[in-house]
Amino acid sequence: MNNAIEIRNITKRFGNLAALDNVTFSVPDGSVFGLIGPDGAGKTTLYSILATLLAPDSGRATVAGLDVIKDFKRLRSAIGYMPERFSLYPDLTVSENLHFFASLFGVRVEDNFDLIAPIFGQLAKFPHRMAAALSGGMKQKLALSCALIHRPKVLLLDEPTTGVDAVSRSEFWEMLATLKQKGITILVSTSYMDEAERCDRIALINKGHILDVDAPGKLVDKTGIDIYNASAREMYPLLQAIRNIDGVKDCYTFGATLHLATDKNFNLENAIGRLRQEGLTDARIYPAKGNIEDLFIKLAKE
Ligand SMILES: Nc1ncnc2c1ncn2[C@@H]1O[C@H](COP(=O)(O)OP(=O)(O)OP(=O)(O)O)[C@@H](O)[C@H]1O
Ligand SMILES: [Mg+2]
Repeated sequence: MNNAIEIRNITKRFGNLAALDNVTFSVPDGSVFGLIGPDGAGKTTLYSILATLLAPDSGRATVAGLDVIKDFKRLRSAIGYMPERFSLYPDLTVSENLHFFASLFGVRVEDNFDLIAPIFGQLAKFPHRMAAALSGGMKQKLALSCALIHRPKVLLLDEPTTGVDAVSRSEFWEMLATLKQKGITILVSTSYMDEAERCDRIALINKGHILDVDAPGKLVDKTGIDIYNASAREMYPLLQAIRNIDGVKDCYTFGATLHLATDKNFNLENAIGRLRQEGLTDARIYPAKGNIEDLFIKLAKE
């Protein structure tokens, strides 16, 4: 299998800060690949390099077999790039935006409309509405349509679901699955760890470093972290008490519960006994399955 994207030892500094530090990974042809990391991890910097808007200090990268430096002109037609911030022209209509992006690439909207028709959907009902007047989910669909209108081989999506409601987020991931079936390779970044599980493979990135790269299920399996959940009416005393229990390596809030990362010294019965002694009579601790977020926290702390 070929790789749609190859990134080899890419480093990019801003002053003293290494936004990307020796980043290496590849994205297999025809896959949905997630770049997963928190704010400031280096995601947008990497997208800027792959989209040929920024040159790396060192290292090399290719997209669709084209070098980001030597072949930058041809590369730009091979990619569809949806930047992190609103990429549309707010004072152009839905239809004008689409025609504008098509004209940039020298194609006609009609030629490739079949590709975007399932995404465009509802938008076709109000072609003359200003982009600025669209809802968040609709703006995102129009931006994706504009990024696809020249039928690129590789889609670069930088945090496409940030600030979008849960239903639109889920719909968006279904659209990506459909595009993948049409042979388009997708590199998508997100800080929502639950979205990681919808990718074929993911790279975990933090502070410019790649922490690990694999299929999401394999990543969680191979770490072997034991996770327990804990809850009680009074969460703060619970958190403090748990941090003093033998074998607890880390304890952090996770939605409405606490997650405990433990080692072999941890014993569930002893732990519960200890909480009772401390007066936390309603506290519960129970085994749970670790997920990408638990893994990320573990790797980032190492
Ligand atoms: N032009 C720049 N000049 C100086 N520092 C920069 C510049 N661009 C990015 N940085 C810094 O590089 C680091 C990586 O930023 P980047 O925008 O790539 O992260 P990100 O993963 O996209 O984060 P976010 O989730 O906030 O979008 C950050 O510490 C950021 O402040
Ligand atoms: Mg960013």
